[in-house]
Amino acid sequence: MSPLDYTAKELDALMDTAADIMADPAKYSHACNGKILATLFYEPSTRTRLSFETAMIRLGGEVIGFHSADSSSATKGETVADTIRVISNFADIAAMRHPKEGAPMVAAEKSAIPIINAGDGGHQHPTQTFTDLMTIRSLKGHLDNLTFGMCGDLKFGRTVHSLINALVRYENVKFVFISPKELTLPSYIRDDVLKSKNIEFREVTRLEDVIGDLDILYMTRVQRERFFNEEDYVRLKDFYILDKKKMALAGKDMLVLHPLPRVNEISTEVDDDPRAVYFKQVKYGMYIRMALILDMLGIRVA
Ligand code: CP
Repeated sequence: MSPLDYTAKELDALMDTAADIMADPAKYSHACNGKILATLFYEPSTRTRLSFETAMIRLGGEVIGFHSADSSSATKGETVADTIRVISNFADIAAMRHPKEGAPMVAAEKSAIPIINAGDGGHQHPTQTFTDLMTIRSLKGHLDNLTFGMCGDLKFGRTVHSLINALVRYENVKFVFISPKELTLPSYIRDDVLKSKNIEFREVTRLEDVIGDLDILYMTRVQRERFFNEEDYVRLKDFYILDKKKMALAGKDMLVLHPLPRVNEISTEVDDDPRAVYFKQVKYGMYIRMALILDMLGIRVA
């Protein structure tokens, strides 16, 4: 499952359902009675896994799963394809995070139940993208006509890759990519997604120079787990630190999003700024995952 499996119109419908759940959670509290979600997490997670689990529980369903490859039979050499054939007997739907790009897709091909990609290596993180879209639409009222600044690790950052893929389908979106030169966008995003669609974008290294032009600032963490050597990670990890001084250069309506977890890239002094919405974002994530579970199980609530 990728955000591109959903048209912009279908995504809108998904966000409408999420907004309806937010407004009237009781209406949905038994929608998944008798259904089971399996969370198959081969990589660490706090938000995504717990957000899926609470989403299913709040819909009246139940949850099984594992939260590390070490606690599964992957340690004995079992393939993802075999694991999912087994899990298909136990659950009605599964959310999978895996360090290998494409693993959830391989699983989906062998699975008798719907598989949700909960993040695969440096490739995609579709439900984070749904979360981001839901947050922006809820707080800005629209997704068209916005300038998005994406800052940090744009090379390995799967959340950024997924989000760009989804945003280019909206009208008059512009991008400013802010990264050290070692962590610029991969060419399959720059050329195949942006240039091929004639999307306006700039690539810069200094956040201070562009922050005043942005409607949305999407901060990302430099991810230690994606680096091949510690030296490069240490050199780049504190390249960007968003603090009060930089926020003073931003517009009064600019929103700061971050998929979290953060390390040093946003100073905690920014947390109380009303433009900092990364903790609200987590809540929107839970509601959009509730909507997604309903959609993938084909459950409609009147
Ligand atoms: N945003 C996100 O994927 O967070 P976790 O790694 O904690 O799931």
